[in-house]
Amino acid sequence: MVIEINTLLLKDDKKGIQTGAELLKKGGLVAIPTETVYGLAANALDGKAVLKIFEAKGRAQDNPLIVHIADWSMIHELTTELPQQAYKLAKSFWPGPLTLVLKKSAAIPETVSCGLSTVGIRIPDNTIARDLIRACGFPLAAPSANLSGGVSPTTAEHCIVDLAGRVDGIIDGGSCTVGLESTVLSLAHDVPVILRPGYIGQEDIEAVIGPVSMDKTIFGQFTGEVPLAPGMKYKHYSPKAEVIVLKGTKSQYINYVNQNNGYALCFDEDCDELKVPFLSLGSEHDFATQASRLFSCLREFDQLGAEKIHARCPGSEGVGLAVYNRLLRAASFHVIEL
Ligand code: TXA
Ligand code: MG
Repeated sequence: MVIEINTLLLKDDKKGIQTGAELLKKGGLVAIPTETVYGLAANALDGKAVLKIFEAKGRAQDNPLIVHIADWSMIHELTTELPQQAYKLAKSFWPGPLTLVLKKSAAIPETVSCGLSTVGIRIPDNTIARDLIRACGFPLAAPSANLSGGVSPTTAEHCIVDLAGRVDGIIDGGSCTVGLESTVLSLAHDVPVILRPGYIGQEDIEAVIGPVSMDKTIFGQFTGEVPLAPGMKYKHYSPKAEVIVLKGTKSQYINYVNQNNGYALCFDEDCDELKVPFLSLGSEHDFATQASRLFSCLREFDQLGAEKIHARCPGSEGVGLAVYNRLLRAASFHVIEL
């Protein structure tokens, strides 16, 4: 089916993968499913093709891209140094939602690394993505397949809304299972450091390689020094509505929301007592479900025409930290302590 001039909507079958690979071999752009979020892919070894990603998304030219490979053997041509920790982490977590930042080789074009001496690499836990990479025969550079600043896409429909007419193809692989972007871990610094939290938590990583630190931009607003992950300084995950994160007890949240105009982004446990329209992220104890629903809820509020969203602050243990990190950014750090 042709959904708009020059954008093919492709199925996640053999033919869809083959057509996607042909478009990518010609230097085109294809939105692809991964387990985390949909990615906007181009040939990672073709600097000109990669440049089109920045144009299609409206992405700042100093924000480097993650390179996706189908298996471990593809990593060697992309890096100059593979520390022991990389082998151990790959064995434990790949394919999966963990990006490793490593010293890059000369094969990585400047448009991928954006002036850094490193490259972020991961093997996605999605067979369509890996089959597509194998059909291409080259690695795929792919940021999240949304317009820059907006909410990351977790379905093909989200990609259509943002990118139809701007890309050559979109492969529909259904809903992403994780729903939040990968954990980004740098192994290129003296001590391994988490630059972006994700489904794989600090404790999971420490169980494999020992102590890792957390970049301070994870918890707070970027303050002006050069950030280790350039993407951390940009506006992120913003729906059209204003998002406000409310910190306090359940009853404080319910009182506040019921007394103020707006929509509620709440947990299942809150629903019965709310007198305003709401969407629930799932149980307040179920961080994995919260992660998988956050972005689709934010997009749904836009469809509902919401102008203000009062979000109950999630817990920050385990995957909750990644949910909290994305929500803070969606709210441009607007937090009210109740
Ligand atoms: O799950 C994901 O990671 C998704 C899917 C498509 O794989 N991709 C994704 O890409 O979230 P993007 O571009 O939206 O976010 C990548 C983040 C940015 O904050 C970027 O600055 C950082 O990773 N990053 C990429 N390469 C880096 C590098 N060499 N050094 C430090 N940070 C890097
Ligand atoms: Mg992104």
